[in-house]
Amino acid sequence: MTLLSNETRTLLNSVPALIEKTFPMPGRFRGALPSQVAELSRLLTGGRGDRSLSYLSRPNFLSAYLRYFLPWNLYRLCLLLPSLDLKLSAGDIITDLGSGPLTFVSALWMSRPDLRKLPLEFRCIDRCAPALEAGKKFFAALAGGSPWKLYTVRESVNFRTKNNAGKKQSALVCAVNLLNELYDDLPHSDTEGLRRISANIARNMCNYASPSASILTVEPGVPHSGHFIAMLRAAFLELDHPPLSPCTHTAACPLSGGKKRWCHFSYESVDAPKDLRRLSAAAGIPKERLTLSYLLTGHAAARKNKSARVVSDAFPLPDNCYGRYGCSEQGLVLLTGDEKRMDKTVSGALVTPIFANGQRDAKSGALLAEVQ
Ligand SMILES: C[S@@+](CC[C@H](N)C(=O)[O-])C[C@H]1O[C@@H](n2cnc3c(N)ncnc32)[C@H](O)[C@@H]1O
Repeated sequence: MTLLSNETRTLLNSVPALIEKTFPMPGRFRGALPSQVAELSRLLTGGRGDRSLSYLSRPNFLSAYLRYFLPWNLYRLCLLLPSLDLKLSAGDIITDLGSGPLTFVSALWMSRPDLRKLPLEFRCIDRCAPALEAGKKFFAALAGGSPWKLYTVRESVNFRTKNNAGKKQSALVCAVNLLNELYDDLPHSDTEGLRRISANIARNMCNYASPSASILTVEPGVPHSGHFIAMLRAAFLELDHPPLSPCTHTAACPLSGGKKRWCHFSYESVDAPKDLRRLSAAAGIPKERLTLSYLLTGHAAARKNKSARVVSDAFPLPDNCYGRYGCSEQGLVLLTGDEKRMDKTVSGALVTPIFANGQRDAKSGALLAEVQ
């Protein structure tokens, strides 16, 4: 994954002010904002049972979403999107499921300046009309005059049936921070339920996809999401949609199944906008680190390679060495190198290490490989 470009960083810093300007909040409601953010966060993470299907239709929650979740989600997506090979060209259709306030569209505009002049068509589907409307307003304020065509569709996608009648037209189908609303109700131990729901989701997303499409899923970086992503990867493989990223291979996922490891990526958020950090602290949910799990699937030429994706923070090893775990076609790898090198090898980076002739780390069982 990439560091933010200066332009994207400037745009991200301008988001809180742009939101205030586009959705002015009467002063008398301002004091309650931190507690509304905290309450929405509780509903979105822990308190699912209390959350109504149309939680974003309530003005106070939509306002909290726009001021807290939208900027943080933009920030996470802006870190991720530049590193993905999305292969979009003029006239392509992009379907975004569970768009909310069009977070994905705005993040793509902010972080992929190379796509700004391309005429693209976005079909943004959500069951909550006020969130879609707010997204259109925000995008107009952010990118007025853009050649991108936005169509919003108020619809509840039924992921539980296999045969949603999506039109197989889109070059990119995405679902960002949506699918956890489906699998979070399942107990973490219900592997069979998770497998079933992953299969239905994969089939549904494929229903919107053209034969050569890419399909992108982004989820929070928590263990349950990581395990879901591994299941979803297996489901897409069965539908002949192999993973393109973060996986460097189509062999079994070395991070699935275990309790301690799951596929996710973490970033420091020290340079997030000040106003956003202030609101987060006031709501009692400061974010020192941002995490995400994601999966991009599609059709690429089969490759046999020795590359590895960095999937952990750096940690000290004996003999002044540092290590990070990596995921490769050969399974889990313990990537090693000196402190400076391993510090530079950020979470999500792709490296081509030198494997140590099949030797394994005694503690984790991971193959040993040195980063050059
Ligand atoms: C947490 S928000 C994510 C919004 C946006 N993608 C983002 O990353 O900021 C989840 C969105 O999915 C929508 N949603 C949930 N289930 C849905 C379904 N079955 N069909 C359509 N939209 C759905 C909700 O209304 C909400 O706007």
